[in-house]
Amino acid sequence: MTTVCMIPGDGIGTEVIAAAGEVLAATVPGIRLEWADAGWDCFLRTGSALPEATLAVINRADSVLFGATQSPSGGAAGYASPILTLRRRLDLYANLRPTRRLLSTDPEVDFLIVRENTEGLYSGRERREGDTAIAERVITRSASLRIAERAFHEARRRAASSPVGREPKVTIVHKANVLKVSDGLFRECCLEAASAFPDVKTDELLVDATAMWLVRDPSRFDVIVTTNLFGDILSDLAAGLTGGLGMAPSANVGSGRTGVFEPVHGSAPDIARRGVANPTGAILSAAMLLDHLGLTDEASRIRRAVRRALDDGFATTDIGGKSGTEEMSAAIRARL
Ligand code: NAI
Ligand code: MG
Repeated sequence: MTTVCMIPGDGIGTEVIAAAGEVLAATVPGIRLEWADAGWDCFLRTGSALPEATLAVINRADSVLFGATQSPSGGAAGYASPILTLRRRLDLYANLRPTRRLLSTDPEVDFLIVRENTEGLYSGRERREGDTAIAERVITRSASLRIAERAFHEARRRAASSPVGREPKVTIVHKANVLKVSDGLFRECCLEAASAFPDVKTDELLVDATAMWLVRDPSRFDVIVTTNLFGDILSDLAAGLTGGLGMAPSANVGSGRTGVFEPVHGSAPDIARRGVANPTGAILSAAMLLDHLGLTDEASRIRRAVRRALDDGFATTDIGGKSGTEEMSAAIRARL
């Protein structure tokens, strides 16, 4: 039986994960949802942002659905972001961010950004030498090869499940013209991985040009593979192409079966506890979770129901509608 560890976290995380839980229960009869605690409120209550009891639930679950956590401004002694801790502990080296057309006002887009999640400029190697600050950008052969392979597999999978006969393509995004050594190695590893996937088209693009093309003609992209910082920035740009932060899902996956699936948005303290948060990003993250566990028909049902609810005019206030979280979630459930 499928077991999902549900971690609402802080702020609107609790509202959107409750909504996603209702959709999961309505889609997969008998699915076990085990609720667990993490985040800033949890830290204030228990002294830990990711308690042992939560790790135990994660260990026996097939995957994790995660809401959002609030980071204390300026940091707090002993507090570590649970999502960063989980990425490390579960070796979740790939961050997957799909962008799909959902609203009639969105452009014709359907692409996936595969972002390296463990190194690059976020390696944590920063230091101050007098009046100079230095950040080290770490690129390794092993991490580059495995993220590239992941991207090619994802391209194949998308083509295989495409109803319209999509041609699989991976665009390697880098800045190797300037970052000759670090992105030179990343690019080299991606091209090396490409040779094992002759059925997938490969091209490459500089990151700055990619930003321009994502705005001008996003339909040219299928799968983008890139390093940590570039992927972070480009995927928020991508979220802006469709309905915005409330709509965007994501996945953190790695070498093991357990993935962590989360909406892209944060805890949104400005709208928390008002019942108005858009649950779509969380619900589409639940669909990604089901896909990951091989429940692909169920995942498609959720995506279709989301599209139908939007087509029928249901929309939360962030995308110009009047529905609250619960009404939006009920509209989606009614269309499963
Ligand atoms: P945010 O994503 O929480 O909010 C940005 C803006 O978008 C706000 O105006 C918010 O009301 C709106 N928004 C976000 N999600 C929405 C939804 N589902 N429906 C309707 N409107 C939505 O980002 P912000 O304000 O920069 O950060 C707030 C807190 O969240 C911070 O403590 C930050 O550290 C944390 N955060 C956590 C993330 C995570 O858990 N993965 C990711 C981003 C931020
Ligand atoms: Mg980000």
